[in-house]
Amino acid sequence: MDYRTLGRTGLRASVMGLGAGGPSRLGQSRRRDEASSVAVVRAALDAGVNFIDTAESYRTEAIVGEALREAKRDDVILSTKKSTWGDALPTAADVVASLEASLSRLGVEAVDIYHMHGVAPDRYVYVRDELVPVMERLRGQGKIRFLGITEEFGSDPAHAMLDQALADDCWDVMMVGFNLLNQTARRTVFPRTRAKDIGTLIMFAVRRALSDPARLRDTLAGLIERGKLDGGAVDLDGPLGWLVRAGGAVSIPDAAYRFCMYEPGCDVILSGTGSLEHLQANIASHRRPDLPAADRRRLEAIFADVDDVSGN
Ligand SMILES: NC(=O)c1ccc[n+]([C@@H]2O[C@H](COP(=O)([O-])OP(=O)(O)OC[C@H]3O[C@@H](n4cnc5c(N)ncnc54)[C@H](OP(=O)(O)O)[C@@H]3O)[C@@H](O)[C@H]2O)c1
Repeated sequence: MDYRTLGRTGLRASVMGLGAGGPSRLGQSRRRDEASSVAVVRAALDAGVNFIDTAESYRTEAIVGEALREAKRDDVILSTKKSTWGDALPTAADVVASLEASLSRLGVEAVDIYHMHGVAPDRYVYVRDELVPVMERLRGQGKIRFLGITEEFGSDPAHAMLDQALADDCWDVMMVGFNLLNQTARRTVFPRTRAKDIGTLIMFAVRRALSDPARLRDTLAGLIERGKLDGGAVDLDGPLGWLVRAGGAVSIPDAAYRFCMYEPGCDVILSGTGSLEHLQANIASHRRPDLPAADRRRLEAIFADVDDVSGN
């Protein structure tokens, strides 16, 4: 496993980070028992993954905490989040109470990165003006090491919230939606995160459309219908099947992870699963070289105009 410096945090993170949310939530969404989810986290740590991302809303913090009981705290980079959606905006007191509850479930005294989670574009100014000061206070108390923010990629696929956040200097880390289907962050986000030395965590690298052929087909058909994709450029009977061949990718998820991993500006690629088999396959993908240059160029050309899907 390769390790990369996560921007201005200086943290050395494995290129693959384990995501404890997403559609699988370490298998909890598929009714796996807690012991199998703990086993997935431990297997990831054993393979050299040292970055784990969770959130209060995922209901997997206690599972991560259990898996970490036998690990050395300093060997793991822990990231968790405070939800910012719902009818009522969270108050500063809510942030303090949520962080305390997260620390208790995780069984740690501090988290490395604490994010404001899924911030909508029209809530950004409130988050910055009302909640960043309390995050800074918690950092002063040693309970948070670095400040992070994550976008709501499903409803904000062109990064309107991050466009605002990138004008400020308070964020050490940003979680960005990016994948081979929607590459807009290459133009609008990564040049600015790199200029400010903000660490990036990549979500939606695979998600649903790139892990389920039927969903990929539907997503591509929708793009063709909306005029975002040239119908002659993709074969809906075996979508993107040309990527998988000797000397190319091993599978579509493999291509999707490698596409993100070698994109300049992508630091840690998050990968979520509740399956030990998928975990090992995804670890193997993160050890492989870049896709053939011609395949990468072809993906960039096919999806050049796509800015309205997340790949969910
Ligand atoms: N706004 C936010 O802050 C936000 C939003 C979304 C995600 N995240 C973070 O990003 C992490 C990654 O989330 P994501 O949205 O990118 O999705 P993901 O969790 O990586 O989703 C991958 C999906 O594909 C399956 N899968 C994994 N490996 C596979 C393989 N090799 N072959 C076939 N299927 C495979 C997984 O389920 P199985 O259990 O079947 O493997 C899962 O359903 C999350 O866990 C979370 O930490 C944050």
